[in-house]
Amino acid sequence: MAQPQVLVARAVPPEVLSRLRRHFAAEENPDDTVYTPAELVARLQGKQGALTTGSERIDAALLDACPELRVVANMAVGYNNFDIAACTAHGVLATNTPDVLTETTADFGFALMMAAARRIPESEHFLRRGEWKKWSWDMFTGGDVHGATLGILGMGRIGQAIARRGALGFGMKVIYHNRSRLTPELEAPLAAHWVDKATLLREADHLVLVLPYSAASHHAIGAPELALMKPTATLTNVARGGIVDDAALAAALRQRRIAAAALDVFEGEPAVHPELLTVPNIVLTPHIASATVATRLAMAELAADNLIAALTGGTPPTPINAADLQRRG
Ligand code: DGY
Repeated sequence: MAQPQVLVARAVPPEVLSRLRRHFAAEENPDDTVYTPAELVARLQGKQGALTTGSERIDAALLDACPELRVVANMAVGYNNFDIAACTAHGVLATNTPDVLTETTADFGFALMMAAARRIPESEHFLRRGEWKKWSWDMFTGGDVHGATLGILGMGRIGQAIARRGALGFGMKVIYHNRSRLTPELEAPLAAHWVDKATLLREADHLVLVLPYSAASHHAIGAPELALMKPTATLTNVARGGIVDDAALAAALRQRRIAAAALDVFEGEPAVHPELLTVPNIVLTPHIASATVATRLAMAELAADNLIAALTGGTPPTPINAADLQRRG
């Protein structure tokens, strides 16, 4: 029987590509080109599966044009690049890569928060520019992390992992806002308290965003929210671009309405709002929170596991819409 045909839409670790080739006629993308929607549709003709990243949008228009597609396996935990309702309506299974990146992403979120609070990149740039002439008592004084109040917006797996680092490693008081409260068993070891969003914004010394992007979370942090924060507070976003209104954030940083920010994700990335590039009190990284060698390999392996299982009669380990597809019949 002919092997299923799949598109590996972006470059992946070579061992993962070799594994996929044992199961599929796999078209790869060795140049790691980000295909336009039209190129993606063209490359998906005749393919039953695709391994995608957050850069490939899978929506109703694409699914209409690719009727043979049965599964889209995202190499990311976030899947706002997928229209899940459209996937389900087209009978297409969507999968993602939860859990394997939780601790790595939490490490990075915590590191970004510390870098912003203690002004590490800002002071390094000063030193590299040759501006360091003397020690001064108030040179690059920042805010303490230990003992401060850590605010988490979006208390899923990654939010909880960041909270653990704060509570258990740095003696931080943890407050959070989430649609649903954690169980007392999860809250207790962190002494974490659910608060409403306004209280979170008012009380956090360091606010970290870890909520999924959706129409409901678009610009969840804009000018009105930034106005509620302490002037000494920091804001860190390792979730998705679009959750923060980048123009409003740049203005708040320039006017010192908050002390500092750290962003790994941007609205319209890889473009970055030009105002963010010129404010000094911000740390900017190119969407690398999950980027360790081991974790990126684990993400690619899990995406491959999903693709292989879905197209060879197995049970994909981390489906998104399997229950919806089953209900649809
Ligand atoms: C994720 O897994 O969602 C990361 O942001 C990488 O895209």
